[in-house]
Amino acid sequence: MDDRNGRGRDRPAPTGARHSPPASFVEQANVTDDSIHEAFDEEWPTCWERAASLLEWDEPYDAVLDAEDAPFYRWFTGGRLNAAYNCIDRHLEAGRKTHAAIRWEGKQGERETYTYQDLSVAVDETAAALRELGVGEDDVVTVYLPMIPELPIVMLACARIGAPHSVVFAGLSADALATRMEAADSEFLVTCDGYYRRGDAFNQKSKADNARLALEQDVRTVVVDRLGDDLPHVLGDDEWDYHDLRDQYAGATVDPVPRDAEDMLFLMYTSGTTGEPKGVVHSTGGYLAHVAWTTHAVLDVKPADSYWCAADIGWITGHSYIVYGPLALGTTTVMYEGTPDYPDRDRLWEIVDRNAVDVFYTAPTAIRAFMKWGTEYPEKHDLSSLRLLGTVGEPISPRPWNWYRKHIGGGECPVVDTWWQTETGAVTLSTLPGIDDMKPGAAGPPLPGIEARVVDADGDPIEPGETGYLTLSRPWPGMARTLYDGDDRFREEYWDRFSDPDADEWHYFSGDTATVDEDGYVTVLGRVDDVINVSGRRLSTMEIESAITDVDGVAETAVVGRSSDRNGTDVYAYVSTEREVDPDDALRRRIVDSIEAAIGPIARPEEIVFTPELPKTRSGKIMRRLLEAVANGEELGDTSALRNPEIVGEIQAGRGDHD
Ligand code: PRX
Repeated sequence: MDDRNGRGRDRPAPTGARHSPPASFVEQANVTDDSIHEAFDEEWPTCWERAASLLEWDEPYDAVLDAEDAPFYRWFTGGRLNAAYNCIDRHLEAGRKTHAAIRWEGKQGERETYTYQDLSVAVDETAAALRELGVGEDDVVTVYLPMIPELPIVMLACARIGAPHSVVFAGLSADALATRMEAADSEFLVTCDGYYRRGDAFNQKSKADNARLALEQDVRTVVVDRLGDDLPHVLGDDEWDYHDLRDQYAGATVDPVPRDAEDMLFLMYTSGTTGEPKGVVHSTGGYLAHVAWTTHAVLDVKPADSYWCAADIGWITGHSYIVYGPLALGTTTVMYEGTPDYPDRDRLWEIVDRNAVDVFYTAPTAIRAFMKWGTEYPEKHDLSSLRLLGTVGEPISPRPWNWYRKHIGGGECPVVDTWWQTETGAVTLSTLPGIDDMKPGAAGPPLPGIEARVVDADGDPIEPGETGYLTLSRPWPGMARTLYDGDDRFREEYWDRFSDPDADEWHYFSGDTATVDEDGYVTVLGRVDDVINVSGRRLSTMEIESAITDVDGVAETAVVGRSSDRNGTDVYAYVSTEREVDPDDALRRRIVDSIEAAIGPIARPEEIVFTPELPKTRSGKIMRRLLEAVANGEELGDTSALRNPEIVGEIQAGRGDHD
């Protein structure tokens, strides 16, 4: 393949081992009818009514799918519903007021439980307060909060009044926040004074203040007081204290606003192939139906469960599988603010034990860390409550997969390796745990109703075992509807490459490479574009490069991914300086600072390699592929197209110094 075939290229193919779902699991599983794949095929697209039927609609839809304006598909057209009503009120009406909705575990060992009734009160009061501040239907509210209960409460309050939320991961920088608020024209912000990082108070509000300074629009800001006296703060103009507002509206009730199925529920920015983050638009009806259905069918969640997705709500995984999916089903969702290794490396297992967690969902990066730390940590706790394990976000190779199944799941829990993306909204490839055999290393077949094809550069399906591009050739309810900054970009990014509009044939391009085996199980290898996946987080190499070239003294740079046992991929930056500029540690520091200011600490390079020049083609294009090969210690292949081949040897020698 010609493209930059991202990390994971050398991953061992599935070993051929397969595991059937354990009988004890199948007996109680939500979905066990093995004709479901065929049934969905035959009944497509009406099969998706099974997902829609998990929700309560204020007005029924007229049609399941409207493909008239493909690739701008519309699902459950004419239907009206409210996401907050579906995640809260209907459970109250079903007599489940006292059932725990959210069990929160704070970084400092604090614990709070919100019953569905508590959640209802908090969401109503917050919705009333937001309305009073002027938030109207369709106004984008930006939420810049760490993993505290106010985060899902504010999201649901927005959903209740029909205001789309745009959650920005709390670890992103002031610049990143400003870029997203500006792109979304967002005039409302909910943030906090700060949060604890390894026991220390960390100031979040100053980042929010800096972002506001950079914005032209007026912004009304609500500040959650998380730290109290540990970090006193002063409220300025257009700023309100969240709890004061709540007190003002104590006991208020707000009717849920019925939204059209196609109305935007939220906006989520993610890294794309250019330096500009993409605002992915998700609908109310299709999205909620798809996340509820997959929480039920793939994660096997039941209302009585204690369910834990150990992700951050600042990314899509947390939106779909900490907030909307589990709450739509009326289960108890555990929410953890901290990290797996603080105060000790058994923290997650302590939480599983204490909350008798039935279903646990995490990322391969975390599993690789657990494996490195050793079995003594999970062994300290009773994990026998676990029934199902899931992973998401990156490829997982068979070794950590097997380790997870054996040492966390006691060999008795099915493991679902779920492939999906910010743009797909919900899981699209995975085994169904009560039906399909698992193959460690392969995500699995497409879910019922989803059609995945792995194709060559011409769009033709490839032979089993060969590497190709992963495409989805039928629409699905949770799919992104467009990009906030434009329909054209949406078509260009995802549809143009493999579709044939004249024949009305539409294939969604995921940006991933994959192989498929004889049984139709897909193994996802990595990205083909300028996106790298560091610890399951999507970063754009171009965004990092632009932060580096902003630094005085830097002439040029190329950022690539290097395979890493720990993070899946590490960020490697090759930098050439202007003449007369010393490539010293001070410059290195300035580069790191600039990246942290533009994006956040998550994009900090593992290594910055200074080089007098970057390898270039005769036409002056930087050969990133070659640098990627150098960073990964791989064969370089043909370098004859280079204008300056001698530089490669120098860079390789430089890399040797750093290893
Ligand atoms: O490369 C794939 C990888 O994560 C990308 C999507 O990232 P994001 O939009 O941030 O969403 C992450 C959580 C859904 C994909 O293009 N990815 C996600 N899940 C898997 C995966 N790669 C391999 N196996 C997976 N199970």
